[in-house]
Amino acid sequence: MADHGTDTAVKMASNEVPFGPLPGVAEAVAAAMGESYRYADHMATAVAEAFARSVGVDRERVAVGPGSVGLLQQLTLAYAGPDDEVLYPWPSFVAYPQFSGIVVANQVTVALKRHSIDVDAVLAAITERTRLVFISNPNNPVSPALRSGDLLRLIEGAPSTCLIVIDEAYREFVTGADVPDALGLLADHANVVVLRTLSKAFGMAAMRVGFLIGDPVVVAAVNATLIPFAVNGPAQAAALAALEQRDEVARRCAMVIAERGRVAQVLRRSGLGLPASQANFWWLPSGNRSRDLALALERRGVVVRPFPTGIRVTVGLAEENELFLAALDEVRAGHPDFFGDWGLPTERLAGSTADFLDRLDVAIERLRAHAVAAHDGLTRPVPAETEQWEAAQIWAHIAEFGDYWLGQLDAVLDAASEQPVPFGRTRRDAHRIAAIEEGRLRPVDVHLDTIERAADRLGALVAELTADDWRRVGLHETLGEMDVARQLDEFHIGHYEQHADQLDELTQGSG
Ligand SMILES: Cc1ncc(COP(=O)(O)O)c(C=O)c1O
Repeated sequence: MADHGTDTAVKMASNEVPFGPLPGVAEAVAAAMGESYRYADHMATAVAEAFARSVGVDRERVAVGPGSVGLLQQLTLAYAGPDDEVLYPWPSFVAYPQFSGIVVANQVTVALKRHSIDVDAVLAAITERTRLVFISNPNNPVSPALRSGDLLRLIEGAPSTCLIVIDEAYREFVTGADVPDALGLLADHANVVVLRTLSKAFGMAAMRVGFLIGDPVVVAAVNATLIPFAVNGPAQAAALAALEQRDEVARRCAMVIAERGRVAQVLRRSGLGLPASQANFWWLPSGNRSRDLALALERRGVVVRPFPTGIRVTVGLAEENELFLAALDEVRAGHPDFFGDWGLPTERLAGSTADFLDRLDVAIERLRAHAVAAHDGLTRPVPAETEQWEAAQIWAHIAEFGDYWLGQLDAVLDAASEQPVPFGRTRRDAHRIAAIEEGRLRPVDVHLDTIERAADRLGALVAELTADDWRRVGLHETLGEMDVARQLDEFHIGHYEQHADQLDELTQGSG
């Protein structure tokens, strides 16, 4: 405010939540001040126990540190030195290069692909000298998250001699059905380490309390590097009070999540594409004018965080988000040149991305409703065919086609050639028929889970398609050349809609 001579400003730059401390936290801190002339418990034992209980892990798997950045520094001190390699996708969290630099490790960075972590490239970059791999999931500052198949492929493809650190600072904001909770991976993988924090969703950024969850051997090595009494007494009291407030945390996160989705669609409809965020911030892929854009927003009282290739904006209260949108509109009107290097579709293409995403949400919501409804009878045959289906076959088909068509879309997008890429299958494909026959015996809730996961991956991919991606063309055996929009209509989003329509028919049939 002093820099720009303004008398109000909103801070949307550091990924805190905008709600103030959780109930009971300030009181717990005040009460703990009475004991602040004595050293607190160095190991924060009660906090470790409360956290372990709250997430369902063994207490000996938990280390408490001064924020998750404190634990990141401890991990780096414990596990990496000169001649070792520390690997991380980039852009990612700025602490990764900072701490790797302190221990003079070789820093290996791996570029993102379509705004997401490129697992194949990460695996290709791992060597026998790699000690630590930092995966921010969701990835700060870019906002998308790795899905379960990719994360598992990374973990299983990496040698057991390197620690895979899954930094889940934003876990509580994740909504993607296929984004894994890395705590579930610990039991089978001794080299996986998870980081969590009370700074974000729990609203305790200034109190500095974070958690590392991993193999007890790693926990012991990390604890050996903890600065004595680094997690202070009032912070421990605050953590105990905050961990009691899981319901309130969930309620607050739901508000952030709703605003995150609303504003992202407003931005796309206004002609500015952005990746689908799984965290409490948006990434604006503003490219080489990011600094100028951030400064222009700041002059209008909206403080955001610029990076070399984009801007990170923390989700605020609805009225703060409106101030951000209004400031962005104003800057856009006055400085269209700041938007000339945008890394995702702009104008009409951004709007049609928004339309596809909305349609996908609606279609999956319809399927969710159908999963608890009764169906009866057989579908009408599609034109020029005789086949009729019962509901169980429809479910089996929806569940099997999601993965299949995502694989085909990937193939079209990744093909080296600019020529139309042969892709797809027809109604008579043997794998398709077998999958439907086999799947019709499976319960609907199992299918719905599979469907939601595939739709989650599809939504993330659609949001990240570049203008070049949209121009890709596939060559289908019977339907001929199809661009990506037509593929989405025919095989993905329109396909979910078409089968939701069929289920509608069978619900009416069942009276
Ligand atoms: C990916 C990631 N990890 C860790 C942190 C640090 O959080 P803490 O406050 O727990 O140190 C942040 C904060 O910005 C973050 O974005």
